[in-house]
Amino acid sequence: MGVADYLMLAIRWLHTMSAVAWVGGGLFYLLVLRPAIKRSGPMDRSVAATIGPEFRSLVDVSIAVLIITGAVLTFDRLTSTFVGVAYAGVLAAKVALAFYAFYLVRFLRRSSYPEEPDSKGRWPRRLVTLCTGTTAILVVGVIVFLLSELLVELFQVGLKTRTGA
Ligand code: HEM
Repeated sequence: MGVADYLMLAIRWLHTMSAVAWVGGGLFYLLVLRPAIKRSGPMDRSVAATIGPEFRSLVDVSIAVLIITGAVLTFDRLTSTFVGVAYAGVLAAKVALAFYAFYLVRFLRRSSYPEEPDSKGRWPRRLVTLCTGTTAILVVGVIVFLLSELLVELFQVGLKTRTGA
């Protein structure tokens, strides 16, 4: 392995760590912390208010790192001879979904994330809340993870078929 390979390894590691911190943190919040706080009664609700800004700063850093390292990974992959139309298509879908999640966190739910927005009211409004809330952001994150692993597989397949390995 040359210097450039070690550099790409560091970039991939940073990308994966940021993805894990955000999506893993979101899973922990929705499946463990929020139910626990709810069960412990009104006294501990102040804890929820303190968690928000802390988690948001972690997510802000993760988003910045994901965009920078993602751009480098994209350049590296698209300039190699092993990727085809399928790879480019899956990558385009992944990046579009990732930017939708970034938009929701950074602009639409800037001050409330990760608290789930109130989804009461008439159905069109309810549907919008459902597609833009904390759970939706997490679902998008989980799908982005799946598409990313698909990209890794597609690259492997391209490598094998084009090198005859
Ligand atoms: C929600 C945001 C994101 C998540 C959760 C995410 C997650 C991941 C994961 C888990 C991997 C696989 C790492 C591995 O197993 O080696 C990966 C690879 C990759 N990501 Fe992301 N990512 C995100 C955003 C982005 C963005 C914004 C871009 C482009 C600008 C990007 C471009 C890539 C590329 C090109 C790869 C390499 C795939 C391959 O090995 O062929 N990602 N990402």
